[in-house]
Amino acid sequence: MVEFGNLKLNYLRLKKEIDKATKEVFESGWFVLGKQVEEFEKEFSDYCGKKFGVGVGSGFDALNLALKALNIGKGDEVITIPNTAIPTVAAICASGATPRFVDVKEDYLIDVEKIEQTITEKTKAIMPVHLYGRVCDMEKILEIAEKYNLKVIEDCAQTHGAEFKGKKVPIGEIGCFSFYPSKNLGAYGDGGMIVCEDEKLKEKLKFLRNYGQVDKHRVFFHGINSRLDELQAAILRKKLGRLEEDNEKRGKIAEKYNLNLKGVKVPVENPLTKSVYHLYVIRSENRDELMKHLKEQGIGCAIHYLIPLHLQEAYKFLGYKEGDFPVAEKISKEILSLPIYPELKEGDIERVCGAVNDFVF
Ligand SMILES: Cc1ncc(COP(=O)(O)O)c(C=O)c1O
Repeated sequence: MVEFGNLKLNYLRLKKEIDKATKEVFESGWFVLGKQVEEFEKEFSDYCGKKFGVGVGSGFDALNLALKALNIGKGDEVITIPNTAIPTVAAICASGATPRFVDVKEDYLIDVEKIEQTITEKTKAIMPVHLYGRVCDMEKILEIAEKYNLKVIEDCAQTHGAEFKGKKVPIGEIGCFSFYPSKNLGAYGDGGMIVCEDEKLKEKLKFLRNYGQVDKHRVFFHGINSRLDELQAAILRKKLGRLEEDNEKRGKIAEKYNLNLKGVKVPVENPLTKSVYHLYVIRSENRDELMKHLKEQGIGCAIHYLIPLHLQEAYKFLGYKEGDFPVAEKISKEILSLPIYPELKEGDIERVCGAVNDFVF
């Protein structure tokens, strides 16, 4: 058996530090938005090379509140991709804005050549998704955003520590992260953060995550309850110290897969970027049979994501149809994610490669 993921192994590896950190929080008697959150906001925004961090309840909330803080909502359009995780698009819809899709390239990331033709007078922002740990062509995206006066909100939920030309994401001014347990930097519950450069935006986000209250007695904005808690922040601070090392481990596993897998397409690293391999995604024209074969061999695998969002029931109202985003549609039929996490052992990697290489359609 090789499991697709195992978060218990992650806890056991860090048990001593985590137990100490959580005990301190329990004993402090302070559980929501306190010293741990403040320190973690500083440490994580520093790590990303950004001035400010605002801890929130999830990656979804980070995206949604970033849109709200920028006054993007009803009547506005936000450009993103159709092969992302559901929350990217759910967050745009929750803000009241309309998602407009741009197809991706074979590398799973937004096709920057197709962005301009999707911009209308209603477009207010581009939400590039750094999918699977890979980083989009941010130079081109920022150039287009400047030309059309658009905001750029990077969905960094899958790319803690990933780089473009030696600089960590987000490459623009605003990045939204998820700390869902299975992420490269994962809490033991939900969590998220917006990192940004603008102090006013940071202030507004802090109000918005706490009902819009500006102090104990006054409310200026329509906010929500999306506060990062002290336990998660304390855990994340410990795990942040291991992030670089863990990302390196993911990179080494990917290298071994790249070298040893036969008969499937493996991910190609863009020389301008450094992927953090949140997911290791291969391609096969016989994906469903390969998946069945791997499961029979006791190898965990998964599809990220099976149905492109423009074809999902919930997003039919956007008016797209099959054939509108041919690359995303083709990719969705071929992709398969193999196990990749820091605790994966040498023998597990060999077993995965053996099982994939054994597959004869
Ligand atoms: C690309 C992407 N965006 C946004 C999110 C939302 O994060 P969360 O699960 O913390 O709401 C996720 C993770 O689920 C994701 O993978």
